[in-house]
Amino acid sequence: MFPSWILQAQSAHAASSRKPAQPKSVAKKHSRSTKKSSSTGVIAHVYLLGESKHSQLADLVEQWGSGWEKKAARDSDKEWMQLPGEAGPVWILRPRESRGLSHQGLLAESLYAKCRDLLGTVAASLKSLQAQEVHLHFEGTSEEMELGAFVGLEMATYSFKDQEKSFRLLANSKLIYHKEGDSLQDLIKRASHRAQAVNRARHLVNTPPNLKVPQMLAKTVKSMNWSKRTQIEVWNTERLKKEKCHLILAVGQGSPSSPCLVKISYRPIKKSTKPLVAFVGKGITFDTGGLDLKPSAAMRLMKKDMGGAASTLGLAYWVDQSQYDGPVDFYLAIAENAVDGNSMRPGDVFTSRAGFEVEIDNTDAEGRLVLADALDVAATSKAQPEVIVDMATLTGACRVALGVEMAGLFTNDDDLAEELALAGQRSGDLNWRLPLVDRYFSTYSSAFADFKNSGDSFGGAITAALFLQKFVRGKKWIHLDMYGWGGPVGPLHFAGGNGQSVQALIEWLESR
Ligand code: BES
Ligand code: MN
Ligand code: ZN
Repeated sequence: MFPSWILQAQSAHAASSRKPAQPKSVAKKHSRSTKKSSSTGVIAHVYLLGESKHSQLADLVEQWGSGWEKKAARDSDKEWMQLPGEAGPVWILRPRESRGLSHQGLLAESLYAKCRDLLGTVAASLKSLQAQEVHLHFEGTSEEMELGAFVGLEMATYSFKDQEKSFRLLANSKLIYHKEGDSLQDLIKRASHRAQAVNRARHLVNTPPNLKVPQMLAKTVKSMNWSKRTQIEVWNTERLKKEKCHLILAVGQGSPSSPCLVKISYRPIKKSTKPLVAFVGKGITFDTGGLDLKPSAAMRLMKKDMGGAASTLGLAYWVDQSQYDGPVDFYLAIAENAVDGNSMRPGDVFTSRAGFEVEIDNTDAEGRLVLADALDVAATSKAQPEVIVDMATLTGACRVALGVEMAGLFTNDDDLAEELALAGQRSGDLNWRLPLVDRYFSTYSSAFADFKNSGDSFGGAITAALFLQKFVRGKKWIHLDMYGWGGPVGPLHFAGGNGQSVQALIEWLESR
């Protein structure tokens, strides 16, 4: 799919078994006094030091530094340092576990997140240097750190433009890791699955909206290399009518590319005792706002309005690739919110699949409409999920409240709230619980239907969540109101889709 660097990574032991006469100490092998090898390519070294090995800095500086920088570097307490080295740059990374005690520690940056972001940043230089060999030295690192490091490297391989070229750059580089003891091949595979899930979500968000209209997006999903554990079903107009998904149909009726609901169903090969989880994603391939047209500045990034579906798909891909040991269903509610003579209008009334009559108050509150029907499909499915999780770029209000780095978390279950918050903290993919204030639902009261799809603008993220809650039939439910766009920072080398919530939900599924 996307270029993979780390899957070709080899351990120093494997690498050296093919090359005779290696000195015993890896560090010595590359010391400044050693004559350069005959090749002229850049040879970079990256040291990742666990906390017990932070004092190794002095030795490394002695070994790699020169002149004035030796003294400056030796006394530094920086977590990140770059020395010129002999045949290429040398990075010394010494992440410290941050001990944030406030907010129950939920804002503390995990070592996983730190290593991911540090290595992701280093990877930008490695790419532009076209390093011939990259030596990655792990000293006293934990599994969490190593996983983060490899995920960061792999996430950084993705670029939307010219993927062929970025692949060549990586293929030319040899990644050699040095770690005493066990091989890291299994961990590398885990990291690769994680990063590829994120990158897949990023890529779909970055894809131009004319190349991912609803029918194209559904086709893309179908054409992915799914294992036989995974089944794909697409509900098009006919089926949506039969299923009474009138809200999905209403949102999509202004677009020449008709809306659809994609169901991805994963069942592990070995019978599992884990209860079924269902994920639902908002997949508005472009949100003009509809007849309640967005002003141009607000429409700029609206190709990302399928970010929830993209992250859902990334997660489905991870579940399939990693052969997750529990059953999972995924639903992508896909439509384009377009302007047309046939677009839904303010004042229109539609009957949802669940039977509620909904008056369209604002055609720009379309996400909750497609999700309402999709949530009802999930909640009434024969295989009865124990938990339903939805992801959606649902409200501008959530971005205003929490900023772009945190998803708003809504749930009707306190245990789930804690699980999700912790998974977000560990995976450096944060979410923050916001309240479901029942009383606020009154803003939706309508004289012409059971309720409207928008009300006053106060507490917009909360009222949007309350709307969704009407459609989960009392089941355990999690709603993530996300932004889905970020960078350039850490492993995200350009501003674009960021696969928000994919890592948090992988972490959550792994911990269940
Ligand atoms: N897709 C937008 C929400 C959005 C906007 C997310 C900007 C991230 C960044 C959604 O469909 C929308 O337009 N919501 C409206 C709801 C309102 C009309 C009740 C909003 O947030 O303004
Ligand atoms: Mn909208
Ligand atoms: Zn939208």
